[in-house]
Amino acid sequence: MDITVHDHARATARAHSNIALIKYWGKRDETLNIPAVGSISVTLDALSTTTTVTFDATAGEGGRAADDEFWLNGVLTESTRVLGVLDLVREQAGLTSPAVVTSTNDFPTGAGLASSASGFAALALASSAAAGLILNARELSVLARRGSGSAARSIFGGYVALHSGTQKDGLDAFAEPVLNASDWPLSVVVAITTHDAKTVSSTHGMAGSRATSPFYPAWVDSAEDDLTAMRAAITTRDFCQLGELAEHSCMKLHALMLTSRPALIYWNAGTIAAMHTVRMLRETGIAVYFTIDAGPQVKALCAPEDAAAVAHALAATPGVNETRTSSLGRGAHLVEA
Ligand code: PMV
Repeated sequence: MDITVHDHARATARAHSNIALIKYWGKRDETLNIPAVGSISVTLDALSTTTTVTFDATAGEGGRAADDEFWLNGVLTESTRVLGVLDLVREQAGLTSPAVVTSTNDFPTGAGLASSASGFAALALASSAAAGLILNARELSVLARRGSGSAARSIFGGYVALHSGTQKDGLDAFAEPVLNASDWPLSVVVAITTHDAKTVSSTHGMAGSRATSPFYPAWVDSAEDDLTAMRAAITTRDFCQLGELAEHSCMKLHALMLTSRPALIYWNAGTIAAMHTVRMLRETGIAVYFTIDAGPQVKALCAPEDAAAVAHALAATPGVNETRTSSLGRGAHLVEA
């Protein structure tokens, strides 16, 4: 890889999406993008973003953000958050060259499948490597978090915790691994109910919840207990406990959303039907639990041996367009362009 500042310096990274078992919603610092509560997630093998960053010293004169280009799934896209991460990398590396970023998702973008998680994790690794910065995983996680809170977790594979930290500079708000994927295999069946992009971004939505939901203080107050209980469920490999806690955190998040003004309703009819399917499967003896982010897709958590039956039932649910089954994935890594 060429990392000189005089020429084209390029790197390609791949990162996987993740789904939070204990959710984050609300920031303690909007400028530095520091979450108000910690979170715990699993990284998903089947949903990934591949990003190439090229710093081109021959283009523009000390171009910086004005000359940056961001191509998302082949479309030239404006994103102040992408430019913000590039600026942080340039600042740390002492670079002024503009960057060309090409990013491709292998799943629907912006529809509650956490494309910002895989996207900013891949961007953090590709841009820092292209700039010749040598960051450790914790530093990469902090950098990815500046683009999107959930992206801090996608730096790692398997079961991952993101700390909200207490420092003003946010340097203690990083993610770290809780358990390797191979130590406790899990399947996540994603029921896709629409391919449309969501209408209210997470950033906008969570600022609204913080400002207007009467449940917000209770949400923050109860976070620590949820995180402690989830950590215990993961370390003792107690799947029913993990599932119950994940479903509860999901419902608590959506109660917060529903009680925001204006109310945030990310669900559609297929979302609700899929939730009932999961509960019905549970009554028949299959240990399966759902979770839902700021979007209409339902993610069902189950043991790998139950994934086919769960996918079959979800695919037959009215309003579910397709399903995608994922095992747990690895952390962000550099790949050949
Ligand atoms: O990091 P963001 O801005 O994509 O927000 C993530 C919010 C949720 O997905 C709803 C919860 C979470 O912890 O991932």
